[in-house]
Amino acid sequence: MKKLLTLGLAVGMVGIFTFPANAEVSPKAAEVMATTCFGCHGSEGKTANKNGYSIAGKPAKVIEMDLKAYKEDKKKGTIMNRIAKGYSDEEIAEIAKYISSLK
Ligand code: HEC
Repeated sequence: MKKLLTLGLAVGMVGIFTFPANAEVSPKAAEVMATTCFGCHGSEGKTANKNGYSIAGKPAKVIEMDLKAYKEDKKKGTIMNRIAKGYSDEEIAEIAKYISSLK
């Protein structure tokens, strides 16, 4: 009985410590995640390459919609589908907000 109680407590604590961290995405985390995008979309989301896609300053809703469409394969790209699948919807929303704030 005592053993079971201890086990229950331990599982409960793991739940407390991991759940909020997964559910919420801090703006700082979004900023770090967005640096992955800049390798292809230019530093700070702007590229001078005419064939590239600048994403900085686009409305957050548009970036979010694009990423979710790639994630759900509603929009087909060469690479973005794979990339978008790596993020949760919450992460996508925060990354979109951050990139949108770049001028
Ligand atoms: C490996 C290179 C690469 C990386 C990394 C990358 N992208 Fe892309 N992105 C592309 C390419 C190429 C396209 C054009 C669609 C396609 O072929 O997949 C694109 C298209 C897009 C579009 C649509 C642009 C438009 O005008 O239609 C958005 C929005 C976007 N990417 C956002 C992001 C975000 C946000 C990240 C980081 C989480 C990211 N991309 C990371 C290469 C990349």
